[in-house]
Amino acid sequence: MSASAGNAPAATPAEVDPFDSNSEARYDAFATLRARGPAHTVPSGQRFFVHRSAVEQGLKSVDHFVGSFGDVGQSKEEDTLLAAIAEPRHGKIRKLFNSALAYNHASQVEPFTRRYAEARLDDALAECRRAGGTEIMEAFARRIPSAVIAEVLGIPNDRIDDFARWSDEVLQRQSQADGINAPIADLHPEFSSYLEARIDERIAAADPPNDMITRLLRAEVDGERLSRRAVLTQTIFLIVAGNETTRNLLGNLIHRLAEVPERYAALRANRELVANAIEESLRFDSPVQLLARTCTKKIEVGGVRVNPGERVLYSIASANRDERCFPDPDTFRLDRPRPRDHVAFGAGPHVCPGAFLARMEARVALETLLDRVARIELAPGHAFDPNPVFWALGPRTLRVRLIEEGS
Ligand code: HEM
Repeated sequence: MSASAGNAPAATPAEVDPFDSNSEARYDAFATLRARGPAHTVPSGQRFFVHRSAVEQGLKSVDHFVGSFGDVGQSKEEDTLLAAIAEPRHGKIRKLFNSALAYNHASQVEPFTRRYAEARLDDALAECRRAGGTEIMEAFARRIPSAVIAEVLGIPNDRIDDFARWSDEVLQRQSQADGINAPIADLHPEFSSYLEARIDERIAAADPPNDMITRLLRAEVDGERLSRRAVLTQTIFLIVAGNETTRNLLGNLIHRLAEVPERYAALRANRELVANAIEESLRFDSPVQLLARTCTKKIEVGGVRVNPGERVLYSIASANRDERCFPDPDTFRLDRPRPRDHVAFGAGPHVCPGAFLARMEARVALETLLDRVARIELAPGHAFDPNPVFWALGPRTLRVRLIEEGS
């Protein structure tokens, strides 16, 4: 249960570690902080914003902040991830992402996503019949996002497994000492070489495919083309940004449906609730828990003054449990009014360009399960096995039993 202002437990701001996205107690601690005010100084010395209104305002204030967990302004632009590029240049590069991930384009990959999810479910069901259960992250949830991104990028399907593994290894290396400040293109030579070869094929081709990589190569930003290295940086970023997050969404969703069988049964009885279940999962178990910004121009956020050079943290996890916006915030509800009213995809000009794709993948994955699986059960003795990425929330592994219709 969440604490309210009146009966708040004695968590102090110093006890809240925003970089521990897996601590069981964090939601109670966030509730205590929210009752005390919009922002708090945490042990890392950073200001930590917990009110939904302040988080949203801060994320939208792109003329006052630059985004990154690392040191801002240290790397060359061709090594800077889209999320950390300042306006107005960010907006110009972002247009390319929008066009490649837009509704029409993403809709085209839905039939592929369904075929792929069905094939993965075949394997998972076969494993359940044979061994009595399956590790559903490995068998199903982890694979779908990387397959879909490979398809969007025009990468052959036989590299899908490598894609998922490479993307994980990039994140692991980023989390190691000073990895956060290292150019993403240098973190994984094997992955980078593979993508460089795909970039070079498109540079050499007379009629390259109209995919994301070609668009990045051909576009002019401020009268100049992006360098080969910049295209590589943004391509790796896109793969990593879309993989980790969507996999966590699928894992969190399956976890909550297996945890309370009535939820899964309700979706089986009424498919119109599928969209609500996805949005409620995004709110309740936000795959991205935390965003970081460095202030470039003084501003008040939620009435709190932030000065240039200050690094701040915006808690998406807390914003999405803010009782000012969500009645009964610590209950997972399939009938929540305005289910999309969360900030799981961020807010403002950096809001996630892959949101449509992620929602489509979650819907297709869930529909595939609902079509063929009567019940999902957590493995006996289940204990949540958290993904170790500090800004993320999701299961690293999730052992379940899938019970087929009629069995
Ligand atoms: C459930 C799945 C997803 C979640 C929860 C999620 C969440 C987010 C959030 C919170 C941001 C804002 C970052 C910031 O303001 O600093 C973001 C940005 C971004 N996301 Fe996603 N994302 C998801 C899926 C995807 C997918 C499928 C893709 C692409 C295939 C993608 C690509 C990106 C990119 C490129 C950015 C940077 C945008 C910019 O800075 O303008 N995401 N995402």
